[in-house]
Amino acid sequence: MSIVNLAQLQVTFGEKTVVKGASLRVEEGETFSLIGASGCGKSTLLRVLAGLQREWQGQLSLFGQPVKAGTRYQGALRRNVQMVFQDPYASLHPNHTLWRTLAEPLKIHGEPEIDQQVATALEQVGLPVDAARRYPHQLSGGQRQRVAIARALLLRPKILLLDEPTSALDMSVQAEILNLLNRLKQQHGMSYLLVSHDADVIAHMSDRAASMANGVIERFFDRSALVRGEHRMG
Ligand SMILES: Nc1ncnc2c1ncn2[C@@H]1O[C@H](COP(=O)(O)OP(=O)(O)OP(=O)(O)O)[C@@H](O)[C@H]1O
Ligand SMILES: [Mg+2]
Repeated sequence: MSIVNLAQLQVTFGEKTVVKGASLRVEEGETFSLIGASGCGKSTLLRVLAGLQREWQGQLSLFGQPVKAGTRYQGALRRNVQMVFQDPYASLHPNHTLWRTLAEPLKIHGEPEIDQQVATALEQVGLPVDAARRYPHQLSGGQRQRVAIARALLLRPKILLLDEPTSALDMSVQAEILNLLNRLKQQHGMSYLLVSHDADVIAHMSDRAASMANGVIERFFDRSALVRGEHRMG
């Protein structure tokens, strides 16, 4: 069963159609990546899948269930699709401690033992438990992105949508976060849909990938094409 089955997605803002008939599937357990120039529609496609961009045309099913445009994600659907955003600075509330940032989704979903779960979530991403008292401005960029990943994983989603999760970080921190993501994926049996403009990141992380240009998916790459570096052309 495909975790994501997206067909002929179209997204229009005013006069401008920014996604023009994109189709892709993400299979259970795989990392599928999207590569493409700035403005080609990658984040918009992820926002549709996350239920954040609700105006679109086309066909979508998640975990085998059809999802209509306009759907407000609730319950299992909301839990199972989580997103890590492009900008680790903007994605955490500046006036909330990490404890509050991590506790809130647990409370919304009626989870038990919140303190324990927050501590485990921090540990999982390699942050000390006493970091829970801190505010985002008291963290480095890499630490902030770890918190964003911890938050996305709290509800044990089936798919994680990763929008340039390391592009704001320097090379060594980038490698740490990517390795962390790979380890967490193994531990939790998740699927990833990863956006990156970095061909090395794509080759390191992905089972399959697709290149996007001007709102259209141009080409798919299987693992052996990625190993050969075919996604580096153009
Ligand atoms: N809410 C919006 N209203 C109007 N236009 C938008 C909106 N969101 C995105 N766009 C436009 O849609 C196009 C695609 O944007 P998108 O953010 O999906 O690109 P991207 O591929 O993620 O680019 P980048 O690599 O720079 O993150 C851009 O031209 C952008 O300006
Ligand atoms: Mg983007």
